[in-house]
Amino acid sequence: MTRPVRARIDLPALQHNFERVRQCAPASRIMAVVKAHAYGHGLVNAARSLPGAHAFGVVSMDEAISLREAGFDRRIVLLEGLFDAAETGLAGGYRVDVVVHHAGQIDFLEQTRSGRPLDVWLKIDTGMHRLGFDPGIVPAVVERLRRIGRVGEIRFLSHFCCADDANAGHTPHQRRLFLQTLEGMEGERSLANSAAVLAWPDSHLDWVRPGVMLYGSSPLQQASADDLGLRPVMTLGTQLIAVTQRRQGDPVGYGAAWECPQAMPVGIAAIGYGDGYPRHAPSGTPVLVNGRRAALAGRVSMDMIGIDLRGHPEARVGDPVTLWGEGLSVDEVASAAGTISYELFCGVNRRVLFDYVEESG
Ligand SMILES: Cc1ncc(COP(=O)(O)O)c(C=O)c1O
Repeated sequence: MTRPVRARIDLPALQHNFERVRQCAPASRIMAVVKAHAYGHGLVNAARSLPGAHAFGVVSMDEAISLREAGFDRRIVLLEGLFDAAETGLAGGYRVDVVVHHAGQIDFLEQTRSGRPLDVWLKIDTGMHRLGFDPGIVPAVVERLRRIGRVGEIRFLSHFCCADDANAGHTPHQRRLFLQTLEGMEGERSLANSAAVLAWPDSHLDWVRPGVMLYGSSPLQQASADDLGLRPVMTLGTQLIAVTQRRQGDPVGYGAAWECPQAMPVGIAAIGYGDGYPRHAPSGTPVLVNGRRAALAGRVSMDMIGIDLRGHPEARVGDPVTLWGEGLSVDEVASAAGTISYELFCGVNRRVLFDYVEESG
């Protein structure tokens, strides 16, 4: 028998969420962010379900090449740009656009002057203070880039640090600084991640760059995915592999860290941190058993979790357990586990079987 840990990927839900992006930003082109294996959902399968995307955002040349080799002809953007000069040839060969966020990456382009022209996205640091050129030096950087024969179109991007918070002053400030910096300059502009697609319409500009909302998680602090009309794409599930009746005071799992508060049934489900379920999820984190809510009990093991089955007297070995997805918001689980959906999605690993579903069930 095959171990029952499965990630069901609902491709129509992905398409639905993409349509939400289109509704929110009808005048912008859409760069679907599919880096990190489409946030753990499977790069090529996810990309195939996004025929309306005008471009794909990735982080490694490997991801870009996988998309090209799968037959995608659309614009692909390396969001952190080139990691060394040798990648310049690959970017040309595979027609990959490159972000340029520091001077060393311009050196790479200068060192390899021959080859197909590369379109460049110049990253400006408007306040996140992670990657990007200082606004004051942008005109000089553009001039330097324009002198390189290999450089084709130049576009501009910046990234928000706090777009998830509707009350943060950073977002309007970053937007203003971005637009002021580029005043009078030619070239398409891009600012908006998922949170800004939904909450900051005046930041949409020429290109939006949604990631997490495509996968059905809310990027906003103040709204759930349901509120935003987003549908879960990944449902992570398994089965009960043991159900036992315990006495009051019986400990469950490593460290005997959780004790049965009363005589009660305890379930053991086949999933653990070896599959990507977060080890730091505390007792009480919600799960579904037979589609109804139950709670994690005891420490997460490599291959198993304990479940408090009070309220589930009917539960039997083989019954379905959902960790997140349909019926249980990944954002709620992430919040209980002290993390974010991005990390949960990306953590699901190769031990898990992925089922790609073409029709929503
Ligand atoms: C440059 C850039 N744009 C867009 C995104 C998409 O962000 P989100 O998943 O929050 O929509 C990311 C993700 O980290 C990013 O690094």
